Amino acid sequence: MPNSSDIDLSILQNLASETKRQWLYLHETDSTNAEIGRRLQDHPPEEGLVVIADAQTGGRGRLGRVWHSEPENGIYLSTLIRPDLSPEKLPLITLMAGLATVLAVNSTIPSPARLKWPNDLLLNGKKIAGVLCENHSTKTPAVIIGIGINVNHSQFPPEIKDIATSLKLETGLKINRTSLIKNLVTQLDLQYNELKNNEVKILLENWCKNTDLFGNTITIKKGNRKIAGKALRLDKLGRLVLAGHSGKELALDSGEVSLE
Ligand code: BTN
Repeated sequence: MPNSSDIDLSILQNLASETKRQWLYLHETDSTNAEIGRRLQDHPPEEGLVVIADAQTGGRGRLGRVWHSEPENGIYLSTLIRPDLSPEKLPLITLMAGLATVLAVNSTIPSPARLKWPNDLLLNGKKIAGVLCENHSTKTPAVIIGIGINVNHSQFPPEIKDIATSLKLETGLKINRTSLIKNLVTQLDLQYNELKNNEVKILLENWCKNTDLFGNTITIKKGNRKIAGKALRLDKLGRLVLAGHSGKELALDSGEVSLE
């Protein structure tokens, strides 16, 4: 079968970077996160491994969901980092990756995508990208950051068509995936450096500039619980602070947000 991929590995391999990146391009895999996970068990790779695939047969989403991974139309990318962060700061990695993704996407399309805590990207109210971070620390810390972006899809299966969209569907533009991957890994480096340099305040401020959440009444689903309140801000650990109906503030470290 001819490979009609617009992912040009030679361009990506020649990208300047402070981090020593190692690229692995796969025509198809089950999941780019799983690919790195397997390598961690065999010959643990160094920080900077980036795996990209043109198609995933078992793309994983948050909360045990499936990530729709249509061949050659999406970006399916995972990277390995070995952060030297205290455990309570680990959730910041997911916000950092969401911020990098929204900045990369917004440098590619005319109308801005917005973040929904903790790390969904929405365009015109529908999801265009998501981040799945998996902590694999054994002796040395290892976090796999997996990013999925709906780029050139023309349609979605009936079960997700009302909640998912693509950059092409929303803008009418066919996006070159190599350029978007370039922007994405560049942004990941920049935002990860902010985190390593302990510039958490700047990182969180930038995250907040790219969301419409605050001031809105939202519901957060956490397991079987549903918590409603007004979204106020992020605290210094990236938790979402809500004002409950009694006015009492509550900081949440995970959950699924829906706008009321
Ligand atoms: C979400 O549910 O919003 C997170 C989706 C993350 C999908 C990406 S695609 C690349 C990487 N490999 C996976 O199996 N999942 C992540």
